[in-house]
Amino acid sequence: MSFTIAIDGPAAAGKGTISKAVAAHFNVPHLDTGLLYRAVGLKMLGGVDPIDAARALRPEDLEVEGLRTAEVAQAASKVAVIPEVRAALLDFQRVFARRAGGAVLDGRDIGTVICPEAEAKLFVTASAEVRAQRRFKELTEQGAATEFDTVLADVRARDERDMNRADAPLKPADDAVLVDTSTMTIDEAVAAAIQAVDAKRG
Ligand code: DC
Repeated sequence: MSFTIAIDGPAAAGKGTISKAVAAHFNVPHLDTGLLYRAVGLKMLGGVDPIDAARALRPEDLEVEGLRTAEVAQAASKVAVIPEVRAALLDFQRVFARRAGGAVLDGRDIGTVICPEAEAKLFVTASAEVRAQRRFKELTEQGAATEFDTVLADVRARDERDMNRADAPLKPADDAVLVDTSTMTIDEAVAAAIQAVDAKRG
């Protein structure tokens, strides 16, 4: 039996950490769909047409180094507005979502477009300031030279693009459970997410 857990939300809300923990808890595979857009974004930065890149994307493209940079994140958000890019990435995500035994997918449009029939949907969010603060801490710990205001501006620019695009904009599905992590620790957010999924499993 397939049981799809769809986890959507804006950049740096804690989706990645929560999705990995939820997948481990229920012992199902996890797909970070942002990596698909990041892989296409990276190819675009290398001069490849993003539509061609999306159509030719292979699973090993998700394993390459350099997908996690701020520059690639912005490029991902830019290629993600192109309907042909989104269309080219649909099948891979849908097949993953309906795997026997279940799956966790995290992204922006999993509960609304990729898998509207998902058995459990979460929308993980936090204020832009809190998300920028977390990202800033992460970057400075990695030794990156950056300003808080730059990180906040980046978060806001990505929100703006992700929420206002015509095709599959970022928004909670009507039946998604909202998890606002602004004042939660990681453990609290993970516990809230697992509880919300358990409630759907019955
Ligand atoms: O989750 P992330 O930060 O890795 O995502 C990078 C960008 O990819 C994000 O700003 C928008 C796009 N994206 C999308 O449009 N749809 C998804 N399901 C996942 C990511």
